Amino acid sequence: MSDFVRIERDGDIGLICLTKPPVNALGVALRSATYDAVQTLLADDSVTAIVLYGEGRFFSAGADIKDFGRASETPTLPDLLKALNDSPKPTVAAMHGVAFGGALELALSCHLRVGIHGLQVGLPEVKLGLLPGAGGSQRLPRLTGMASAIEVICSGRNIADDEALRLGIIARLADGPAREAGISAARDIAAGALSATPTDGLNVAHDEQALAAARQKYSGKLNAPLKAIDAIEAAALPIDEGLPIERALFMELMESDERAGLVHSFFAERATAKIPEAKAEKRAIERIGVVGGGTMGVGIATAALLAGLPVTLIETAEMRIDAARANVEKNLAGAVKRGKLTKATHSVAVANLTASADIGALAKADLVIEAIFEDMEAKAGLFSDLDRICRPGAILATNTSYLDVDAIAATTARPADVIGMHFFSPAHIMRLLEVVVASKTAPEVTATAFDFARKLRKIPVRAGVCDGFIGNRILTRYRKQCEYLVLDGAGFDQVDRALETFGFAMGPFAVGDLAGLDIAKATRDRKAATRPPEERYSRVADLICDQGWHGRKTNIGYYLYEGGKKTGPNPGAEDIVAAERKALGITPKDFTDEDVVARVLTAMIQEAAMILEEGIALRPVDIDAVQLFGYGFPRHRGGPMHMADQIGLSEVIARIETYAAEDAYFWSVPPLLRQMQSAGQSFAALNDKGIST
Ligand code: 3HC
Repeated sequence: MSDFVRIERDGDIGLICLTKPPVNALGVALRSATYDAVQTLLADDSVTAIVLYGEGRFFSAGADIKDFGRASETPTLPDLLKALNDSPKPTVAAMHGVAFGGALELALSCHLRVGIHGLQVGLPEVKLGLLPGAGGSQRLPRLTGMASAIEVICSGRNIADDEALRLGIIARLADGPAREAGISAARDIAAGALSATPTDGLNVAHDEQALAAARQKYSGKLNAPLKAIDAIEAAALPIDEGLPIERALFMELMESDERAGLVHSFFAERATAKIPEAKAEKRAIERIGVVGGGTMGVGIATAALLAGLPVTLIETAEMRIDAARANVEKNLAGAVKRGKLTKATHSVAVANLTASADIGALAKADLVIEAIFEDMEAKAGLFSDLDRICRPGAILATNTSYLDVDAIAATTARPADVIGMHFFSPAHIMRLLEVVVASKTAPEVTATAFDFARKLRKIPVRAGVCDGFIGNRILTRYRKQCEYLVLDGAGFDQVDRALETFGFAMGPFAVGDLAGLDIAKATRDRKAATRPPEERYSRVADLICDQGWHGRKTNIGYYLYEGGKKTGPNPGAEDIVAAERKALGITPKDFTDEDVVARVLTAMIQEAAMILEEGIALRPVDIDAVQLFGYGFPRHRGGPMHMADQIGLSEVIARIETYAAEDAYFWSVPPLLRQMQSAGQSFAALNDKGIST
């Protein structure tokens, strides 16, 4: 008997239980053990039917994603699935929890599927840049028809138990445990009460209309859904012809950058939780205080209420309390519409909110998050008040986006209890939470902040103290480079288009118009006194703002707007650029869209390497996660550090050296990049080394 499966008997029924924690991923060890178990039960004449089920929380999470990019070992998943489909004895999959990807494909190759209430199934391969590579694109259409299979496979969405039943993916929805439900289905097959059919023997009609509509819907985006449609089209052929077509397309996608980027993003989402403080004892967080009833405070309060926690929201300006409460309630009503709250949990969340002008109401809070305006003096005053009011052991967090968390901590007599929790707007929706660990923050406070973040379903990333932490530091560098590109010859629309084609939802100038050009100018004005004299400074944004052109809210900024819709470039803004170039004696250059992306990305990589070198981020993957989950970096690109590996460090260094000939202040090769290049090291290898602190 193997460590990964258990063969069991219930009379004449043979059972195979998958027992590979944490998620029964179908790596070679589990595949091989399952294959051998199938052969054992086939060879045993006293066995009349075979039931597969899983131990633990899930039936199985599918193929082992860690294996992607490595040579596949036998038995492959298709080998195992063929054995189940071709079995002369009825084969039954009894699924509980989840059955995703290869796990659902395993079940589809059985002659009958039973689901336990609460089951979710799906073929999420496109989310990893793949298509179902073990028969899913051939067998699912045989059960559901082509149109439904296209929708399920191309969206990669999860399908709930009742829908799985309706679509014909499962034949029966039962109460658990899965083992008993599987046995009972096998007995019903023997009694003729359920019919078991090898899926491969079924036919599916070619659906030209559904195929054409899907091709149109997915064209010009990612590659995987389009290849998946090609594979599903082949399901109308005999299965022996369709399966090799699917496999060839799957293998082609396996080699793609899109797949590598998406898989990196999958693991990035999970890797950030691995911090040196993870094992420290956590403090109980049951009552939350939020100070500041503006957009951030309201968003943070909403996020905590959505997690079922009671929140006291302090807005010291009494006349704004009602507005703050109303805004939280609006967010909660939105959460009901998005299916995040039921009527009952909505009522609990509303009742859990206390809004007050009295900061003394925070005396019993376990965690207070400050979200007032970005002013050191105001924050210092508030933290010394909190220090006086809050109970010993309460954690005091600041939502500052760039101020010095050490300096804020120093205004209290309990710097070990002070930490940064940098949320992103809208805070109840954006998944990133930068956890800024100051020099005196206690390990259990960091561990508690991570725990709290997970309760809020956020992706916490550990950052050190510096101006802008990880995300805003890179953003500043990114924006500057975009402004230089415009000054040197690119158009606002070219920069936006190039970055949107790369995969950002919006380019930097479109984002500027959305956020309000006056707001960015106020930040620049505040920082003007500390701007190094050697730094190149583009006055274009200031001059545009001085015209009263503040972006969308004034219907004019970098672009023109009408009724909230962009109507075209703003010729006035382009005139400002032309005049500024003339005044500075700049002869505009032609940049290709590739040049634009190369420069912007290289600028981000340069800053990211410095962040890593300074120990502000623990690992390259933490930087990627910040970019992916807080700044709209395209998921299929994996993040700037992943891209640096793909571009190659020598090429990144060569680019920086070339650009430095024009601006040696902005561009310089971080020593870490040189060290890594001479050691032949990659950022991926730094991730694999684990936590370096
Ligand atoms: N392969 C390898 N590792 C996996 C995995 C998989 N398929 N699914 C999850 N894991 C790992 C996670 O990385 C994590 O590891 P860590 O603890 O070291 O960080 C651990 O299992 C637990 O996962 P989660 O933290 O995500 O746990 P949750 O309980 O929140 O979620 C889940 C569990 C719903 C199964 C979720 O992990 C998930 O959706 N997994 C991916 C499923 C998927 O995409 N399957 C398709 C794979 S592609 C395929 O099958 C190709 C086929 O067509 C040939």
